[in-house]
Amino acid sequence: MTTSRQDVSLGMPQLPATPYPAEVRARLDADAKEVLARYPGSRSALLPLLHLVQSEEGYVSRTGMAFCAETLDLTTAEVTAVATFYSMYRRRPSGDYQVGVCTNTLCAVMGGDAIFDTLKEHLGVGNNETTEDGKVTLEHIECNAACDFAPVVMVNWEFFDNQTPQSATQLVDDLIAGRTVEPTRGAPICSYKETARILAGFPDERPGAVEATGGAGPASLVGLKLAKGEALPQARVVSPRDGQPKSAQPHDPSPSEHLSSHDAPQQTSASDPEHPAGPAAEEGE
Ligand code: FES
Repeated sequence: MTTSRQDVSLGMPQLPATPYPAEVRARLDADAKEVLARYPGSRSALLPLLHLVQSEEGYVSRTGMAFCAETLDLTTAEVTAVATFYSMYRRRPSGDYQVGVCTNTLCAVMGGDAIFDTLKEHLGVGNNETTEDGKVTLEHIECNAACDFAPVVMVNWEFFDNQTPQSATQLVDDLIAGRTVEPTRGAPICSYKETARILAGFPDERPGAVEATGGAGPASLVGLKLAKGEALPQARVVSPRDGQPKSAQPHDPSPSEHLSSHDAPQQTSASDPEHPAGPAAEEGE
């Protein structure tokens, strides 16, 4: 099979991009000026500027990338290279709430895959798809370095620890119903656009945002306590979900039962061929 040059999409913005309306452009210019003033070199402001344009449209559009390139005197190729590298930048219109289910190894075996499957069915969407009302975009996410609270769900980058299919279902129902939702650590969830503006470096005006520091929880501090030689409660085997001690002794699996990552494939996120994880398609694709 041959592939013509026109068939190949490298994620480059197809120019010319539609310009912002004058009022939007004036507002973004003023905000961008404020962002640029924080950096000794203008190109260092690219990451916050991408968040800024994302706060305008909910994703990094071709128009947004052209704005960043023009503002920072970069080529659109340079801007595109950055915007397509980081998963926090979305390349097409998405929901008010980005619900990410960690399906990396630890979260997956602790229930992440079950949570993802449950939400997929409950919401009627697949990976990187948005509900018809435009509220929720569901996605697989990679390890968020919160493995001690597995399985973890994130909404607009805020953590929800120790989730179950039931708690995650309640979470998305609350978001869709417009109820106030508080993460395990941090201030109440705001919309994706509002989150993007905060990430661009503008004040977080949510009630309690400054006080909600999100210190380390007990599970994160166990290793530190051990290193300090502090006594810990006697270790016991518990059910991961209900916390009740198990009556049976820990099971030592036989070699045939003990599948490692090098053995036969397990039921994980990779077994979702209809909606594979990976880079989202660009707007219009
Ligand atoms: S595997 Fe899910 S947070 Fe690390």
